[in-house]
Amino acid sequence: MAVVFLSLCVCMALSLSHAAPAQHDVMLKDAPEDHHEDRCKGIEFDAIAPDEKGNTFFFKGDRLWKGLTGASVLSSSVFTELDDYAHLGHVDAAFRMHHEHDASSHDHIYFFLDDKVFSYYNYTLEKGYPMEIQQEFPGVPSHLDAAVECPKGECITDSVLFFKGNEAYSFDIKTKSVKKKVWTHLPNCTSAFRWLEHYYCFHGHNFTRFHPVTGEVTGNYPKDARNYFMRCGEGFGHGGGARKLRCSEVKLDAISADERGRMYAFQDVMYVRLDTHRDGSHHFPISRLWKEISGRVDAAFAYGENMYIIQGDQVYIYKSAVHYTLIEGYPKPLKEELGIDGPVNAAFLCPQQHTVHIIKDQKMYDVDLVATPRTAQTVRLIPFADTDAGFCDAEGLKVFIGPEYYSYANPTLLAMSRLRPEPRQISPETFGCEE
Ligand SMILES: *[C@@H]1O[C@H](CO)[C@@H](O)[C@H](O)[C@H]1NC(C)=O
Ligand SMILES: *[C@@H]1O[C@H](CO)[C@@H](O)[C@H](O)[C@H]1NC(C)=O
Ligand SMILES: *[C@@H]1O[C@H](CO)[C@@H](O)[C@H](O)[C@H]1NC(C)=O
Repeated sequence: MAVVFLSLCVCMALSLSHAAPAQHDVMLKDAPEDHHEDRCKGIEFDAIAPDEKGNTFFFKGDRLWKGLTGASVLSSSVFTELDDYAHLGHVDAAFRMHHEHDASSHDHIYFFLDDKVFSYYNYTLEKGYPMEIQQEFPGVPSHLDAAVECPKGECITDSVLFFKGNEAYSFDIKTKSVKKKVWTHLPNCTSAFRWLEHYYCFHGHNFTRFHPVTGEVTGNYPKDARNYFMRCGEGFGHGGGARKLRCSEVKLDAISADERGRMYAFQDVMYVRLDTHRDGSHHFPISRLWKEISGRVDAAFAYGENMYIIQGDQVYIYKSAVHYTLIEGYPKPLKEELGIDGPVNAAFLCPQQHTVHIIKDQKMYDVDLVATPRTAQTVRLIPFADTDAGFCDAEGLKVFIGPEYYSYANPTLLAMSRLRPEPRQISPETFGCEE
């Protein structure tokens, strides 16, 4: 079930303040504010789409809201050329293109107005646009209600989902083939939005999360968008007081990246994705991805397509595909699997290595993962007794202790050094926490 806390708001607001080009900020400030349309009164959006920097725009009539707080401005004050064509007064649909192998369209924002499509990049209308929708998206109808991108992995191929009435059109970007689906169980979407790999259909002031391939809805929907996708104060949100963790309060349990590049930080019973922070960072329950895990984890590392999660004296091994599946026979005692008694503090594997380094108290155990049986072959002292998490990638090794971390070129240097290097602070840019 989707548990989208209000913390989203703060972090999107954060990303706004860093992201927009300076000139652009000026335009926003100068644009006349609208005091009539209040999105907390429960309006229905025409379109929702993020830009290439992760700012999210909510469209209604000839105006838009940027991010989750603040007043609306004229859409044409941000996307200038819309004014030249859009005497129509509103956009029907919008999405941010995901087309990794085509730089000429990847990350562009597409707008749909009646029978025309507009492509923007860097807030500038691309040459040749607007054009007829069917020129670029043959088989897709005009006068759309909603559109949302669906990258390969979430959809079968890089696709766009278009909505009109109760029909959905799944458009394959590469082959330009269209599959029409009728998802009668889904409300008619007036806008659709992909956020952190989840898909939301907005209808009225509500939204419903759906599966982008099957249209399936799981969980308790609809939900009121005012509790999740905007800040409406008193009476909305989860007590109104939810906020992101301060960076100074971060105390990780584990940090790991799988072979698909998905990077996770674990804290308490929640995890946060670190590689998608462009779209805002957000904490979800660990059990949402790793169903069999309850409670805090002690350490996590990835080896090949497997993700190891260590909790107490047990280890869970998950196969990582689009979803994580627990391998049969797990959890198993850590001692049996890796030859070491739990609990442990941290575990990490450096790229292209077969030796996992496990930190327990002030010792680092090296376990060769290709040996049978697996045992801790080398044990070395390290200059820390209270490690929370460790992570090793092409840039080297980081040892996390509370809101600080220490960098080393490799695990050997960690074991050899007598002096701690200068600690660095966990930052909002990498951890999505609040300054
Ligand atoms: C984006 O547009 C601004 C001005 O409109 C320009 O200064 C900047 O170089 C552009 N950036 C890119 C990446 O094209
Ligand atoms: C949804 O769209 C269909 C047309 O595709 C229409 O017949 C139906 O009345 C719409 N439902 C609502 C609740 O608006
Ligand atoms: C929104 O959802 C609630 C149930 O959660 C429902 O009672 C209400 O009619 C819905 N409103 C709209 C405009 O979809």
